Order: sequence, then structure tokens, then C-alpha cells
Amino acid sequence: MKRDIFSEFRLNGFTLKNRLGVAPMTRMSSVADSIPRQDVLDFLVRRAERGAALVFSEALVTDYESAQGYPGQARLLTQRQIEAWKKVTDAIRAQGSVSIMQMFHCGRVAWPEVNPAGRIIAPSPVTPRQKNPLTDKPYPVPDEISRFDIQHVIQGFVETAKGAVAAGFDGVEVHGAHGYLINEFLSSYSNHRRDDYGGPLENRYRFAKEVVAAVREVVPADRLLTFRISNWGVVDPDVSLFETREEWQALIERLSAEPIDAISLSTYDFQAKGFDTDKTICQLTREVTDLPLMICGKIHDRSTAEAALQDADVVLSGKSFLLNPDFVADVRAGKSLPLRRAEEANIAYTEALLL
Ligand SMILES: Cc1cc2nc3c(=O)[nH]c(=O)nc-3n(C[C@H](O)[C@H](O)[C@H](O)COP(=O)(O)O)c2cc1C
Repeated sequence: MKRDIFSEFRLNGFTLKNRLGVAPMTRMSSVADSIPRQDVLDFLVRRAERGAALVFSEALVTDYESAQGYPGQARLLTQRQIEAWKKVTDAIRAQGSVSIMQMFHCGRVAWPEVNPAGRIIAPSPVTPRQKNPLTDKPYPVPDEISRFDIQHVIQGFVETAKGAVAAGFDGVEVHGAHGYLINEFLSSYSNHRRDDYGGPLENRYRFAKEVVAAVREVVPADRLLTFRISNWGVVDPDVSLFETREEWQALIERLSAEPIDAISLSTYDFQAKGFDTDKTICQLTREVTDLPLMICGKIHDRSTAEAALQDADVVLSGKSFLLNPDFVADVRAGKSLPLRRAEEANIAYTEALLL
């Protein structure tokens, strides 16, 4: 049966008024106080005002030491930061929409010059093959993260989740995708450890499991906890981070056993087939999980949203929401809408205001 984009969906105790959500998008607009520019905060509220059922924040970095990978990233670790976001979550709720704060540690993609402690930590001292596009230099060799550091980094996720709860977010997302720290542990491409955080999937999964368990402790049962996952990373983007359908599905099965409320699956293109099968990654994921599933990647108009919703419960759009305040109305009207290019999404990295 065809699912209706404009039908409600129950997510834990929340009702999404339709199936369309704003994907998390880093904007690099925060200056000294790690609070995003006002137009960047307003953009999230405006998308709720214009019909998005679900709004993700940009990815917030989880500490002041080693988590940051891009200039101008936001945090949720101080009262001033909490107060800035509280206005956003209140305004989103007033529209009957749901807000989720996404958080991450950039791991080996982090950039020493933007981290006050100036250090880089990752599961293994291995750099991406590609250069850092922001510095045009090779990424520095990261320190192999120690057990001490692991506990410390987990605390950063916990403190940021507490900040999100205090700021009134309806939920928290652990960013386990796109080649950042959690994803680096999960993938044998970047995790070469020989201790119980490396080797077989069970071990590579341990860090993600510990983060989720620690964060769930501070996210009350009546708020949402979601986990974002992908098979690709922002560095060395051509690499399949998981090797086989079996490995991918084993990972999803593990995630499904966690105390999370949904899995958010990030793809380049939701229609692309995965792991040499005739199925999409979303279909392969759906096969092994009963958790609510969000899907993202080249969903840009009504027909792609309807197609994506056949195998998922909620569809997220990034660039289409970023560049078009009226995206929900345009989808509803069945308008012909462009597939946006990455270069178009640089808005707010510059002085240009986000509408
Ligand atoms: C400018 C920009 C910033 C992004 N920042 C994040 C981020 O902070 N966290 C995240 O999980 N994904 C991030 N993404 C990925 C998007 O959430 C989304 O998965 C991607 O844009 C594909 O969806 P689309 O084809 O609808 O744009 C970003 C994408 C863009 C274009």
C-alpha cells in the first residue's frame, strides 16, 4: 500500500504531522560563543512554520577539546547556549513540530586549529587518503584514542545531551554516520585496533554502544533518541565503509537492540542499490529492523518522497529544505522541483543570509 507523505506518524510519544523532516545541516556560522547566527536559528523555526513535521539541528560538537572539525560550529554546553536554543525549540513546538538536536565528535576529520586543545583523536593513527578541503593540506595523523580518552569523549556526548534536554529539544541524535568518530570505530576502513574496541564487528560496535547507553541515561524516556548511520563518509567518499550486505545487516540488528527510538539512514541517493544486490540500502535495512526508519538522499519532490517512503517511515531532505522555505507546500502541490547541487548549499558559510 502506498504511504501518504501527509499522514501522521507516531514516534514514541510524539506525533509527526506529516512524514517530512529537515535533515541535519552544519552551517559553520557560530563565532566565539558557539551559538549559530540568528538567521541560521530562524531558518530552523521557519521550516517548522512552513510545515516540516520534524526539524534536526546542525550537528553540534560535543566538547571544547578535540571534537570540532569545521570552523564556526555550535555547542550546547553553557547556559547561554542553552538559552539561545530554548527559543528555537519553543518556537518549533508552537508550530506542532518536533525538534531533535544532532551531536557528533569529528574524530580524524577534526581540525587542530579549530579545537582549543589542538589535538586529533581517532580509533587508529590512520589518516584519510584525501586532503582536508578546508586547509588544502593532508589531515594530521591522529593520536590513537586511549581508554581514558574514550571515557572522556563519551562524557562530552552526555553533557551535550543534557544541554539539549535543558534547551527543550524533543530528542537527541547520536551522529554515527559520515566517517566521523563513531563511524570510524564501526568501520574496519578506519579502525585497525587490536583491543576490544577493534577487530570483529562486535568490538568495533562497542564504542557506539557505550555512547548510546550513556546518553540514554540522561535523555528521559519521554524524549527521543535516534542514531544516524551511513555506509559513506565525507572523507574518501568513494569508499564503502562496510564490506558486505551481511556486515551491514548485522550492524543494523545490533542497533535495533539498543534503547533508541529510530534509525536515520543517510545515503547519497536513496534509490541506489547496495552491496551488489538488487535492493536499496534502505530496503536492506528495513529487512532487519522494526524500528522507525528515516531515509535521506536526493529526495527533492513529491514523487521521490513518495518512492522513498515505501521503505521508510519518515523522509528527510537536506539541500531542498535549505534552499527552499516553501519546500513542504511545493511537495504538497506536486510542483516540479530541482535536484540541488552541493555547491548551492554553501549559503550561510558566507555573509549571505539564510531565508
Ligand atoms: C551544507 C550541508 C551540511 C550538512 N551537515 C550535516 C550535519 O551536520 N549532519 C549530518 O548528519 N548530515 C549533514 N549533511 C548531510 C545532510 O543531512 C543530507 O544527508 C545530505 O545533504 C543528503 O540529502 P539531500 O540530498 O536531501 O541534500 C549536510 C549536508 C549539507 C548539504
